[in-house]
Amino acid sequence: MIFHILTLFPEAFAGYREASILGRAVEQGLVELHLVNIRDFARDRHRTCDDATYGGGAGMVLKPAPLAAALRSIPSVRPRGEAGGVRVVYLTPSGRLWSQRLAEETAGEGEVVLLCGRYEGIDQRIVDAFVTDEVSVGDYVLAGGEVAAMVVVDTVVRLVAGVIKAQSLAEESFRQGLLEYPQYTRPADFEGRRVPEVLLGGDHARIERWRLEQSVARTLRYRPELLRDRELPPEAAAVLGEMRETGEGVEHGQD
Ligand code: 6GU
Repeated sequence: MIFHILTLFPEAFAGYREASILGRAVEQGLVELHLVNIRDFARDRHRTCDDATYGGGAGMVLKPAPLAAALRSIPSVRPRGEAGGVRVVYLTPSGRLWSQRLAEETAGEGEVVLLCGRYEGIDQRIVDAFVTDEVSVGDYVLAGGEVAAMVVVDTVVRLVAGVIKAQSLAEESFRQGLLEYPQYTRPADFEGRRVPEVLLGGDHARIERWRLEQSVARTLRYRPELLRDRELPPEAAAVLGEMRETGEGVEHGQD
């Protein structure tokens, strides 16, 4: 998987690219992360990359020329609409919400360009000429697209074959549409807090049932819209039906 990241702050990625799963994937040759400093493509003496917004208003806009030159420096980038180009994703709070589905789609592409905005945004003509996807990572405003680009990289990298265990991904997709159940490890008693008894016995059917109930209860509590938006596997739907009837699992936990 090849990422090209266009940014005014390439140093923001320094620690993250070496860390943990991504660092190992790069070392193993499964992932390439190419950082492109937009400022290197500014032509004037001060290497200016931003300017005031036409029409007035606060904030600065990234100028089109350095962005176009930076994009054209990537051989796999084509003008939008021309065949054979890689996807150019612009990270912006005004974009389409990023999701596991989009991460899977992107992992399947094999190569992607991530364009990080700063200030009030980028000149719209760059979006019109090059950008294939506009993506937001949530309903809040970040100071720039760098952290959002890391979210995209992180979610895609772990889906690249060989990066993490196939079984972990399989279990995850099995749970799709529900939040994760609680996890415990040793000791069985930590400062008087006990691991739920069901997990200490070896009754796998009971354990699966408990985990499913926990997942449904959490989803109902924190993300009820997930239960409306898609159809659940029959067993989960049955647990949900029971919970709605009895009100059980809905009212506990911290508020
Ligand atoms: Cl992609 N960029 C910025 N600046 N803020 C965001 C975002 C992106 N996604 C959510 N908030």
